[in-house]
Amino acid sequence: MSWLRPLGNTGMLVSALGLGTVKLGRDQGVKYPEDFTIPDDRAATALLAQAKDLGINLIDTAPAYGNSEQRLGPLLKGQRNDWLICSKVGEEFCDGKSHFDFSPEHVEHSIERSLKRLETDYIDMVLVHSDGNDLDIINRLGTLAALEAIKERGLIRAFGMSTKTVAGGLAAAAAGDIVMLTYNLGYRDEAEVLDACARLGKGALIKKALASGHFAADYDDPIQASMDLIFSHPGTSSAIIGTITPAHLEGNVLAARNCFEVR
Ligand SMILES: NC(=O)c1ccc[n+]([C@@H]2O[C@H](COP(=O)([O-])OP(=O)(O)OC[C@H]3O[C@@H](n4cnc5c(N)ncnc54)[C@H](OP(=O)(O)O)[C@@H]3O)[C@@H](O)[C@H]2O)c1
Repeated sequence: MSWLRPLGNTGMLVSALGLGTVKLGRDQGVKYPEDFTIPDDRAATALLAQAKDLGINLIDTAPAYGNSEQRLGPLLKGQRNDWLICSKVGEEFCDGKSHFDFSPEHVEHSIERSLKRLETDYIDMVLVHSDGNDLDIINRLGTLAALEAIKERGLIRAFGMSTKTVAGGLAAAAAGDIVMLTYNLGYRDEAEVLDACARLGKGALIKKALASGHFAADYDDPIQASMDLIFSHPGTSSAIIGTITPAHLEGNVLAARNCFEVR
């Protein structure tokens, strides 16, 4: 495996690290260890340019990340071909609270809105933003079927689900193109979802790869140890890291590249 990696059988090649953008759009109801200030446009522009210079081609956003999508539209102007954009459906975050709508009608509305906000006529990947009831969403609510139909219309290139359970991750791997799952030094319960993605040729995006910044004390270099864990699994396509600190971004890329290049 190398820095650019197949996203399952979608035909897309993603960088080993993607940029998560919760912290570009939302500072309420988040569980990071330290308070932070949402970067202004100048800092966000510099962060995106740095990410691109470091070889990152994948950016992860969602309607639930405050105004992340609205900001990315103008911030990425003129750069559409440089990025693979991942967004979501199902979770809305308003007035400091999340609510969920997984209906096919909401999926349609949400994607039309994301296209406008992101100032694009297609989104590379759209995932269901689960509330934890993964199997109910997959088996009963028709959300993935709605995404598949929108993919057939060419508005999105691939679809899947960001899951919260092992059973849900396995079902999502069977039903969609991509699963986003949690996997890190302190939480490896979903390793079998990665196994399934590898077996079935599905894309696997890791969220909370650095445990949202809550590092375990028992590693000398938790960043390198995290990257070593994540990229030792053949199922991993990319780890979406949510950083707004330029030095962290650079260090994370270096640590990930260490997994593919001779140390
Ligand atoms: N679909 C979902 O349900 C879902 C849920 C959670 C997350 N996500 C996606 O996954 C992305 C990542 O998740 P996450 O942000 O929760 O967790 P994460 O990437 O594991 O951790 C991000 C936190 O770690 C810190 N950090 C990053 N690099 C560091 C370094 N080298 N040294 C020290 N601290 C470092 C960041 O602070 P600095 O900003 O200061 O670097 C930030 O507070 C999100 O942005 C989002 O795109 C999706």
